[in-house]
Amino acid sequence: QNPELEALLQANEWSGKFYHFLLKNTEYGQQAMDYLKNRGIHERLIDQFDIGYAPARWDTLLQFLEKRSFDLAAMEKGGLLSAKNDGSGFVDRFRDRVIFPIHNRSGKVIAFAGRILGDGQPKYLNSPESKLFSKSRTLYNLHRSKNEIRKKRQVVIFEGFGDVISAWDAGVHNTVATMGTALTESHAAILKSLADEAIVCYDGDNAGQAAAMKSIPILEGAGFKVRIAMIGDGLDPDEYVRKYGGERFLHQIVEGAVSSVKFKLIYLRKNHILLEEAGKVAYIKEAMEVIAPLPSPTEREIYLKELSADLQVSFESLKQECNQYRQELQ
Ligand code: UTP
Ligand code: MN
Ligand code: MN
Ligand code: MN
Ligand code: MN
Repeated sequence: QNPELEALLQANEWSGKFYHFLLKNTEYGQQAMDYLKNRGIHERLIDQFDIGYAPARWDTLLQFLEKRSFDLAAMEKGGLLSAKNDGSGFVDRFRDRVIFPIHNRSGKVIAFAGRILGDGQPKYLNSPESKLFSKSRTLYNLHRSKNEIRKKRQVVIFEGFGDVISAWDAGVHNTVATMGTALTESHAAILKSLADEAIVCYDGDNAGQAAAMKSIPILEGAGFKVRIAMIGDGLDPDEYVRKYGGERFLHQIVEGAVSSVKFKLIYLRKNHILLEEAGKVAYIKEAMEVIAPLPSPTEREIYLKELSADLQVSFESLKQECNQYRQELQ
């Protein structure tokens, strides 16, 4: 096929193995091992997820690739190396970071993400977009999870690496991560070939909840039945598992995922002061925009009854209002 891509795939595979070796077998890998242990990522997970460590030096991978006669300019384009500012050569792109290899659907390493060991920016340094790697079309962990997703006809979607790994440890294997918060139509189309139900389990902070909200029309547009797994306290799934354990994560958060309609109502509710009449009226207006378009009359009734109890407004008046909205929709 394309020799340049083949060389990059080969370099990625060997580099991933090299980083993994350096993490487990060198003295300077030890601090990264300690970092991972502190996060609850034990040795079996390190092996299962091929986690590695890129040392702090500027030329560790450079020498490794040079010895194996790789074209360094091509390696720079593929994101393993960076060009020096003065144009005199190359340096390692990833330095002093924990390395998470990113695979394509068939299990080939197409990119890396490097996490800083403590605080600092960027938290994750990723491979650049390349002929091999397009973030908007890549789902982390898909090559490990695709069979389980297909078997269950259900996928759980996370934001990040740690979330996938902790969930895996807790026995939840039908998972992928969007590596950030933007789920794309391509992501949805890829997943739709494997599953009918999507459970979005994004971080409990504002950014995560806003991203969950945005993911709903994209997933529903692709034909998914969508549920949202909500985590309180601003925790992310990884932090939740570490704090409360995998059992509770599975039974309360994943199995307790709410319908997309319910999530929208809960999400919109937070923006209003419901002790004030004006706040109630404004929330009801937004809630109607969610409930009125629902095609099923019983579904509408269920949500209107919940709204009625929640706001202490009669079901009859809510139903009337809902019917008015429906007329406007036609
Ligand atoms: P988060 O900010 O939620 O990070 O971003 P995290 O996964 O919880 O990170 P930890 O637990 O502190 O290690 C979610 C995902 O967004 C991508 C990564 O894939 C991350 O897992 N991201 C985040 C980046 O690509 N770059 C960044 O600088 C930050
Ligand atoms: Mn190993
Ligand atoms: Mn986040
Ligand atoms: Mn997070
Ligand atoms: Mn996290």
